Amino acid sequence: MEVAETIESVRRIVKNARNEGRKIGLVPTMGALHIGHISLIEAAVKDCDFVIVSIFVNPTQFGPGEDFEKYPRPLDADLKICKKAGVDVVFAPSPEQMYPAENITWVNVEKLTEPLCGKSRPGHFRGVTTVCTKLFNIVTPDTAYFGQKDAQQAIVIKRMVVDLNMPLEIVICPTVREPNGLAVSSRNQYLTARQKKDAANIYKSLQTCRGMIDAGTTEAHQIIAEMRKILQQIPSGQIEYVSIVDAETLESVDKIAGKILAAVAVKVGPARLIDNILVDTGK
Ligand code: PAJ
Repeated sequence: MEVAETIESVRRIVKNARNEGRKIGLVPTMGALHIGHISLIEAAVKDCDFVIVSIFVNPTQFGPGEDFEKYPRPLDADLKICKKAGVDVVFAPSPEQMYPAENITWVNVEKLTEPLCGKSRPGHFRGVTTVCTKLFNIVTPDTAYFGQKDAQQAIVIKRMVVDLNMPLEIVICPTVREPNGLAVSSRNQYLTARQKKDAANIYKSLQTCRGMIDAGTTEAHQIIAEMRKILQQIPSGQIEYVSIVDAETLESVDKIAGKILAAVAVKVGPARLIDNILVDTGK
C-alpha cells in the first residue's frame, strides 16, 4: 500500500493504474476509521481493481465552534486498517496541499442543502461538495463510495454529480450499526459508556417510525410526536431535528406516501449524532 501526501504524487500513481486499465474506486473519509468506513472500503475493493482512500479532515465543512480542532486524527491506526482491508493507496494531504491559498471558488448545491443538517450547519454542505469536487478532480475515480448514514450528504453528492456532468458513479452503502442499534460514527468516541447506551434511543425512534408506518399511520406529525418521546428519554440529549421528508426532494411531508426519509439529529453530551432510515411505502 502506498501513502501519498501530495496531489502530484497521487495523480502520478492514479495515472499508472489507469494506463494498466484498472477500474478506480475512491472512498473519501475524514479518518478515525471504523467499521462503517471499512464497509465502504470493502465494497470498493469488491467492485474495483484499484482502491484509494482519502483521509482529510476538511476545514471548510466545519462551522465556527464545531469540533474541527478536536476531531480525532489517528493516522497510524487508519493506515493499518486500510492496509488490512486491501487498499492500494491512501491519499492523506495536509490542509496546505488541499487549500494552498484562500479558497474563493465553491461548489454549492441549492435547495437540497437547506433543510435538516443544512439549517443548523450553514456552509457545511458547501464545504463537503467543494472538497469532494476537488477529490474527484485529483483522483478521477470511476466510482466513489458514500454511506447512507449521512443521507443528506449522499443525496447532495449524487445530485452534484448529475448536475455538473461529473464522469463517475456514486455508490451508497448501508449504515453500519453497533449491536444496540447506534449508528457507528467517529464522533461516538466523544460519548461515555452511559451516553452510548442512551443514544441507542436514536435508532429506537427510527424503528418506531417504521413500525407506525407499517401499521398504517399516515400522519407524519403523529409519528414525529412518538419519536420525540423516545428521544426525550436520553438524559443528556438535546433534539436538533426529527423530520420526515420526501426521500428525493428532502421536503417535509404531512402524509406518509412514496419513498420517505426519517432523519434525526440529537446532541448527546458533547457529540452531535445523526441517523436516518429510508422507508418505501410502495404507494
Ligand atoms: P466521514 O464522516 O469520515 O465519513 C466518510 C464516509 O463514511 C461517508 O460517506 C459516511 O457516510 C460513511 N460512514 C460513516 N459512518 C458510517 C456508518 N456507520 N455506516 C456506513 N457508512 C458510514 O462524511 C465525511 O467523512 C466527509 O463529509 C467527506 C465525505 C469525507 C468529505 O469531507
